[in-house]
Amino acid sequence: MEISDKRVGELMAAGRAAVRFNAPLGGDRARQLVESIVAHGATSVVDLGCGHGELASLVAAAAPAIGVVGIDRDADQIAAAQASSQASFDVGDIAAWQTPADTIVCVGATHAFGGTVDAISTLAPRARRQLIVADAAWMGEPDDWCRATFGELPTVDDVADTAAQIGFASLDLSTSALDEWDEFEQGFIAGIRSVGGDDAQYFADLRSEEYARYRGVLGFAWLIGTR
Ligand SMILES: C[S@@+](CC[C@H](N)C(=O)[O-])C[C@H]1O[C@@H](n2cnc3c(N)ncnc32)[C@H](O)[C@@H]1O
Repeated sequence: MEISDKRVGELMAAGRAAVRFNAPLGGDRARQLVESIVAHGATSVVDLGCGHGELASLVAAAAPAIGVVGIDRDADQIAAAQASSQASFDVGDIAAWQTPADTIVCVGATHAFGGTVDAISTLAPRARRQLIVADAAWMGEPDDWCRATFGELPTVDDVADTAAQIGFASLDLSTSALDEWDEFEQGFIAGIRSVGGDDAQYFADLRSEEYARYRGVLGFAWLIGTR
């Protein structure tokens, strides 16, 4: 079935709107991230590629004294974030963001810096207390289809090696659990289906079939580096 680019954009927007985070990020991990940011005494936090701003909003709600800024190039998501949050949000290109902050967060948007490994190297000098970077990384051995679909990605070990070279006082490395992935993908697919119409069902089925191919192979590596 042929689906126009415009319609694909609408379907993807419905998928994004249906999930709390546009990443395999479960509620427990989100709580732990917020607790860690607050515990390390950040007074300024920037979330680069914040999507519709859920994580930035959680930090701002947990500690209103922290200046929290979320940046994303998607004006619709930024408008949604601004409507319901104590954090500040701006539309912008995160690749141009150079301002230091106590804590820098970049979840699922490292391609703006050339990938996860480059994002860690680029952002670490600007993070005064903590750097939180998370993105796709191979967890299992990718087949040709995975490589063609997702392109060049680091392994989880590559991410660990890069982080180790930065010289953080403490490093916390983990990967999203399969239940975080399942919850994310199921929510996203349900959002696509909710649009209605044969094309939406077809597109949702396609995503579901694709997920079955990359489940457990495409990972999502989390780095928390603290100074
Ligand atoms: C996979 S989503 C993750 C969103 C959010 N961090 C979350 O976890 O829910 C990646 C986000 O990065 C944004 N993004 C990608 N490249 C960007 C760039 N160069 N400048 C600003 N935002 C960008 C996209 O618009 C998208 O909202």
